[in-house]
Amino acid sequence: MLEINQLKAAYGQVQVLHGIELKVPKGQVVTLIGSNGAGKTTTMRAISGMLKPTGGTIKLGGRSIAGLPAYRIARIGLAHSPEGRRVFPTQTVRDNLLLGAFTRLTFGGKRARGDIRGDLDRALDLFPRLRERQFQLAGTLSGGEQQMLAMARALMLNPDVLLLDEPSMGLAPILVEEVFHIIGRLKEQGMTMLLVEQFAAAALAVADYGYVLENGRIAVHGQAEQLRNDPKVRAAYLGIAH
Ligand SMILES: Nc1ncnc2c1ncn2[C@@H]1O[C@H](COP(=O)(O)OP(=O)(O)O)[C@@H](O)[C@H]1O
Ligand SMILES: [Mg+2]
Repeated sequence: MLEINQLKAAYGQVQVLHGIELKVPKGQVVTLIGSNGAGKTTTMRAISGMLKPTGGTIKLGGRSIAGLPAYRIARIGLAHSPEGRRVFPTQTVRDNLLLGAFTRLTFGGKRARGDIRGDLDRALDLFPRLRERQFQLAGTLSGGEQQMLAMARALMLNPDVLLLDEPSMGLAPILVEEVFHIIGRLKEQGMTMLLVEQFAAAALAVADYGYVLENGRIAVHGQAEQLRNDPKVRAAYLGIAH
């Protein structure tokens, strides 16, 4: 579904990604693990078009998307729920979600004709907390709830692939659990996802496959199960001494 070869990206003169190779097969959850500053967010931004790659190829459902503007990549079927909360604070929860779909309406094409009402219902089913608060202004939600809203809004694009950058960042433990539960449900529904999470062990538990990123390069990759049992991965990223 998503296939990345030799992806390179830079901020000005500083090269951050040095040729990433990564695949996300249809219906699978793939996690990208790495220390702070390894380049996880940069990888996601380069995929979704928020940052123009300096090299390499990216294919989404067989179509080349590297270097396209973000709105066109979204139209082709990729949604990116970015790090940090990005909601419209003075709009209601419901309007925030509908705005997610509005972006899709303005795109035209097959995605526009989808059932927006049905998608809204599905999003609210997935996030009962948001259903209860759908008429509340987004700015009055707790930080965790705003993060869920950002995730739900990405889903309103009805994407083929969903990129989730640290969806549990800064959340209370109970909400972290809820976010992972929701990721599990999305997976059951067949959503293809690329997941970055500070809780690497939990990410590997829900994922099919994982990549470890070190200084802008893939250092190790393998089945999630295999990475969970890899002594180096355990020591460096799962906080488990061997
Ligand atoms: N907007 C930016 N301008 C310049 N350098 C950046 C910017 N964003 C990130 N970087 C640098 O790129 C590297 C990778 O960052 P990032 O992709 O955010 O890592 P991660 O998400 O894995 O923590 C870091 O060295 C970071 O300082
Ligand atoms: Mg990051």
